[in-house]
Amino acid sequence: MQTQSFKLLLWTFLTFASLHQGRGAKCSADGPTVNQTQVGFGNPPKFMVEVHNNCAMCPVIDVHIKCGNFSQALVSPRLFKVLGHNDCVLNAGLPLPPLQKFSFNYSHQKYPMSPSIWYFQCE
Ligand SMILES: *[C@@H]1O[C@H](CO)[C@@H](O)[C@H](O)[C@H]1NC(C)=O
Ligand SMILES: *[C@@H]1O[C@H](CO)[C@@H](O)[C@H](O)[C@H]1NC(C)=O
Ligand SMILES: *[C@@H]1O[C@H](CO)[C@@H](O)[C@H](O)[C@H]1NC(C)=O
Repeated sequence: MQTQSFKLLLWTFLTFASLHQGRGAKCSADGPTVNQTQVGFGNPPKFMVEVHNNCAMCPVIDVHIKCGNFSQALVSPRLFKVLGHNDCVLNAGLPLPPLQKFSFNYSHQKYPMSPSIWYFQCE
């Protein structure tokens, strides 16, 4: 009986501890980053875009990128979908696992890009 209620207490404690972590507190300082590297030097130049999930704990989902006038014709919408001016969504909004990167290339003058919206999926 003693052991049972101790186990219950421990279970409750652990459950709430992990729920608390689940709010994304572990990740709030580690938002995704965008890195662009020029990989082709013709005309137009070619850029490799790498989006990193810098959080070691949680997948990041529904990553929107400020993408200026990025043209959908440059890349498959499955990789990078243009929703409107300065609003593009990465990988159809699918989860990017902890510390992983997602990459695609485009050939055009450089479009400055930075993350705008994302959600951590901590569970
Ligand atoms: C961005 O790319 C450059 C060149 O490939 C690399 O040296 C640098 O480490 C990268 N930064 C991040 C945060 O991945
Ligand atoms: C982006 O497109 C809009 C509307 O087509 C245009 O007014 C604006 O000048 C463009 N911006 C850039 C940086 O090309
Ligand atoms: C992007 O270009 C680089 C350099 O040409 C290549 O190594 C890489 O595999 C390309 N990435 C994709 C997703 O096609």
